[in-house]
Amino acid sequence: MSANARAVPVASRYSRRVVEERDPHAELLADFRAGMLEPPRSLPPKYFYDARGSQLFDAICDTPEYYPTRLEAELLERHADAILEASGARTLFELGSGTSRKTEYLLAALERRVPAPRYVANDVCGEILDEAGARLLRRFGALQVDSLCGDYAAALGHLDESPAAASDGPRLFCFLGSSLGNFEDDEAGALLTRIRAAMNPEDRLLLGLDRVKPRPVLEAAYNDAAGVTAAFNLNLLSVLNSELGADFDPEGFDHHAPFVEEHSRIEMHLVSRRDQQVQVTELEARLEIAAGEIIRTEISRKFSREAVDRLLALAGFEQETEWSAAEDWYSLFLLRPLAG
Ligand code: SAH
Ligand code: AVI
Repeated sequence: MSANARAVPVASRYSRRVVEERDPHAELLADFRAGMLEPPRSLPPKYFYDARGSQLFDAICDTPEYYPTRLEAELLERHADAILEASGARTLFELGSGTSRKTEYLLAALERRVPAPRYVANDVCGEILDEAGARLLRRFGALQVDSLCGDYAAALGHLDESPAAASDGPRLFCFLGSSLGNFEDDEAGALLTRIRAAMNPEDRLLLGLDRVKPRPVLEAAYNDAAGVTAAFNLNLLSVLNSELGADFDPEGFDHHAPFVEEHSRIEMHLVSRRDQQVQVTELEARLEIAAGEIIRTEISRKFSREAVDRLLALAGFEQETEWSAAEDWYSLFLLRPLAG
């Protein structure tokens, strides 16, 4: 019998569930109220990722300046079999999976080890989950793909009722792309602790983190010449316009992404080009934004070895293996959850 004849029909190999701890719209309203009504203004970065934002992030990954994706892809391509071997995983669970393009290296290695491999993907963007799922099913004839659409906390909270329940273990939890770097220390520590709480002793976490490197390389990666990162940043205003009935004028803001050495992070800013008023219908609010005022839309931390060690100690993980690229410009860590 050919491999095709044996393949299970695609429809039965894909599921998507919405997972929520809080109503996402109510959460956006609360985050907007907390961060945007008065300066200094800021918003959590998860609101970038409507369907267009996800496409723009994918396009960022293809810019010549955005090195993290290429370095992480090289590491995964080279070490996927070793990672799967070391973790002993039968199931992959990924937080913030996006297009899952790099994950394909891990899935190929998983398929070489396990006859009925399972991949549980989590993302806030439903469109990207469905698109990625369809592509993965075409490539991997025996793979079961289950998507959990919602934020990290909700996916972790629902993991045990999902198809990646502990019985499918050991599981490899993946948190790639340095997405942990989008959180301040306290939030990052809390998220890692939450990940650890969802893990069994035999599960492992594969964590991809971007590292400290020369300022020109960092700033070029977030200020690409083709303006894709600028479009990604400005797209947040369109999300706010459609979700909250706001009237932000994207032409009224500039993209700015400096490396802030004191905090070892890139900060993404939208800088107001003039004094302006913004109406937010859902909140019955009017913002007065001055020329030169900044909305901080994202932080993207660049980790020193000390910062990594501090976070892992804080959250109760022990490093088993590290794979690093290009003089420690990017690292993958295989982590074991400590008891307690
Ligand atoms: N892991 C991929 C994608 C990184 S982009 C890579 O390494 O290339 C960040 C992804 O996480 C996006 O797809 C975005 O939709 C998702 N995301 C952002 N914040 C999230 C949150 N709070 N919960 C779940 N997914 C989130
Ligand atoms: C998803 N996250 C880790 C990316 C980063 O590099 O912080 C998002 C991004 N923002 C601008 N470019 C890419």
